[in-house]
Amino acid sequence: MQNTSKTLLLILLGLMPLMGKSQTNLSADSARMQWFADAKLGIFVHWGIYSVKGIDESWAFFNGYTTHDSYLEQLNGFTASNYDPSSWATLIKSSGARYAVLTAKHHDGIALWDTRTNSLNVNDNTPARRDLIGPFVQALRAEGIRTGLYYSLPDWSHPDYPLEARDTYRYRDDSVRFAKFLCIQQVQLDELMIRYKPDLIWFDGDWEHSAQEWRAAEIKQRLRKTNPNIVVNSRLQGYGDYATPEQGVPIHRPEAPYWELCLTMNDSWGYQKTDHNYKSANQIINILADCIGMGGNLLLDIGPKPDGTIPHEQVAILNELGRWTKKHGRAIFGTTAGIGREYFAGPTTLSKDSKTLYLFVPWKPVGPLALKGIKSKVAHVRVVGDGNSLNYYENGRAWWSEVPGILYIDLPESLCDEQITVVAVTLKEPLVLQGVR
Ligand code: GLC
Repeated sequence: MQNTSKTLLLILLGLMPLMGKSQTNLSADSARMQWFADAKLGIFVHWGIYSVKGIDESWAFFNGYTTHDSYLEQLNGFTASNYDPSSWATLIKSSGARYAVLTAKHHDGIALWDTRTNSLNVNDNTPARRDLIGPFVQALRAEGIRTGLYYSLPDWSHPDYPLEARDTYRYRDDSVRFAKFLCIQQVQLDELMIRYKPDLIWFDGDWEHSAQEWRAAEIKQRLRKTNPNIVVNSRLQGYGDYATPEQGVPIHRPEAPYWELCLTMNDSWGYQKTDHNYKSANQIINILADCIGMGGNLLLDIGPKPDGTIPHEQVAILNELGRWTKKHGRAIFGTTAGIGREYFAGPTTLSKDSKTLYLFVPWKPVGPLALKGIKSKVAHVRVVGDGNSLNYYENGRAWWSEVPGILYIDLPESLCDEQITVVAVTLKEPLVLQGVR
């Protein structure tokens, strides 16, 4: 018995430095991720030659809807002739977004910068004839917006990438050739890291190979070497910082500590002139509220035209989003996930000190709002954005019961926002909920 406890003690002592280290790492990680957690809204920009014919980015030739040659013909039409990165940045800023992610290279392998690794880039092979990333990164920084670059690990145009599409293989089991491809990839990543120093890198397509095959650990290490604070999305076979659900809004709060829903405004990532199936600003605002209520971010996509203009439908959505986020900023940015729907029937967020609960009300109330299970004392209830105080009262608390009554809040229709009204419930003490210890 004595021996066992001695062994246990020794194991514990041996583990202590490790435990300390991992704790330091954990807090360093959360400091590195803080801006991302606070940001809540980012804009994804899918810009590439696929906008010329208005077909699916990369997938059009992968899935055989068009040949690779005819896909590449689009290089000739990619002019960027009206590309105005500062107006892009202004628009993004006015939407309320705190970061933007631009497709530096999609699966089609066409680089949006003048890479020295090959000529499949917009500088050498399109009428745009210049680096398109640098000016955007600069314009974003001038607006105080964090910068992200999307980078596809697979490169379906590269002769040394083992493309496997529709049961045809470029090559199989040739580790030398794949290693050659990985070297080129590393040079491209270095170029992006050194030249643009992005705050975030958004990998895609990791599903085509294992972590070991991609040498994911090495990639991550090298990114961190040039850019110690880089935030990496999850699509690096287990080496990322945050989860990236795509299109479908999660029903339950994802378990990952950080996550971001990427979402198209219509049904396409890139510009497709025939796709008019836009979500309304109201639908998008509701999705944003859902995401932040569950502690996540929304990365909302736009797809500029080949000349660099942003379709007017997308501009209109961003403008309305901007009106709403500006009015409700304090309920959105820098908050944490709210409470469950068993307490309130809509999305909610919580201030960092847990003393203000924000209720998102995506409907015009028929009766009073009902907030259940709040044990903390309420100081006041106001409408966010116009400061109006609201009448509230607790009903049904029995003196002998621990269960709080229902907090009813009268929200007159005249104070409602056209999209989602936000009500701030300020507490006298940090939030304590019934049923949660
Ligand atoms: C998917 C697709 C890609 C798109 C991306 C955005 O992974 O492969 O076309 O760019 O999602 O999340």
